[in-house]
Amino acid sequence: MNAMSGWPAQEAEFYGETLQLLAAAEAAIIERVDRIRQAEVERMGRDPVEHVKARIKKAKSMREKLVRRGFAPTAEAALNCVHDAVGVRIVCSFLEDVYRMANRMQAQENWSVVCVKDYIRKPKRNGYRSYHLIIQLDAPYDGGRGLVYGEVQLRTLAMDTWASLEHEMKYKRTLPNQAMIVDELRRCADEIASTDLSLQTLRDLMNGSLER
Ligand code: GTP
Ligand code: MG
Repeated sequence: MNAMSGWPAQEAEFYGETLQLLAAAEAAIIERVDRIRQAEVERMGRDPVEHVKARIKKAKSMREKLVRRGFAPTAEAALNCVHDAVGVRIVCSFLEDVYRMANRMQAQENWSVVCVKDYIRKPKRNGYRSYHLIIQLDAPYDGGRGLVYGEVQLRTLAMDTWASLEHEMKYKRTLPNQAMIVDELRRCADEIASTDLSLQTLRDLMNGSLER
């Protein structure tokens, strides 16, 4: 059995050996998230995370991104010039859990946090909200080891639903009522932010962690 088996041909061809390094980094981040989750379950008696998704960026998207940014479309550039060849998304029900997980992730030893972008406190103009971390970790795998970047996105369920819909919109080439849809998405993002806050406050009230 060849070492690259199990991967789609396009990804195997583009990333080559690097794919194993990226897969090792992805697995290491997921494992760490699972451990933090488990520790929180033991500490608080409930899981702060709703679900976790991870992916290695598709060869086609990676090539396009590298070229767009003026880099050669190579596996080496995918590893060194951009930070999201490996992506992990942590989705929580409640706002406080997003920040709890973000803080735990940042306090981890054996990886460094290269960049933090809090698009929840400071949303993008279109309404996008999420907490982003770029981490760099040493990933050992069968063929060796190497430093790999990983992009971690933390968000609430509602933010995640919004981001999926907004992402879908970007792929629709011709959209009648585009301006109206953009405005409505923006409005929904603000409503979601307000509802996320209300749900958090209600939960705090129910748990007695908020006076009155
Ligand atoms: P890229 O957008 O990936 O080229 O990197 P960047 O350096 O601009 O980082 P940024 O933090 O803006 O975005 C990183 C990732 O977050 C994106 O690849 C998306 O997965 C997600 N993201 C950022 N902005 C948006 C947005 O407006 N809508 C949606 N749906 N996702 C977004
Ligand atoms: Mg961007």
